[in-house]
Amino acid sequence: MKIAIMGAMPEEVAPILEKLGTYKTTKYANNEYYEATYNGVEVVVAYSKIGKVFSTLTASTMIQYFGCDRVLFSGVAGGINPSLKVGDLIVATKLSQHDLDITAFGHPFGFVPEGAVYVDADEEMIAMSKEVASDMGKTVQEGIIATGDQFVANEERKNWIGETFSADALEMEGASVAVVCDALDIPFFILRAISDVADMDASFSFDEFLETSAIISAEFIMKMLDKVIAK
Ligand code: ADE
Repeated sequence: MKIAIMGAMPEEVAPILEKLGTYKTTKYANNEYYEATYNGVEVVVAYSKIGKVFSTLTASTMIQYFGCDRVLFSGVAGGINPSLKVGDLIVATKLSQHDLDITAFGHPFGFVPEGAVYVDADEEMIAMSKEVASDMGKTVQEGIIATGDQFVANEERKNWIGETFSADALEMEGASVAVVCDALDIPFFILRAISDVADMDASFSFDEFLETSAIISAEFIMKMLDKVIAK
């Protein structure tokens, strides 16, 4: 077993690296990868940089160059479902690209030929996350995450994404990581803590809560890591 733990931004992986202690840094493909052994299992940590392209590159590299056979993603998201408040956790059941649009050719939003509107996350790890939540005495919501190369700070756009994809939260990397893992048959788990609600105040809320929400997500991911290793 070799487990990849990804974030998009330094703030999202810093609390994970802190918990891992010592690690070896390898530079590859314009990024840094941090290799550690945790409870006897090899772990590779990296932040991809923001967006679908960079997260695709990092997820592919973690799997194909570093040989990871599971991917865990930890980070923050904008809430769409009004039940999600800043600091709440959401586990992705499936993910979609909200900015993928060839509707001009009669296709639905988020679809290209030979692709699919949604990619399903690994059911076994979703089930494990329920056990982790109960061990931690936490409530974790499951839901659909929509991904796009866009920081959404607009109520109208947020509502459109919510309605079009039945999405509960939005961010900028999950669906691309999902596409990579699905294509390479690698189980993946995408976790996000809410940093903002994608409205006109989103950028201020994001700046204020990025660090604390990233820590909430990272703490849960470390317990997920324990659970995955123990299984
Ligand atoms: N990640 C966290 N908040 C976000 C937002 N409002 N839009 C896109 N990605 C986000």
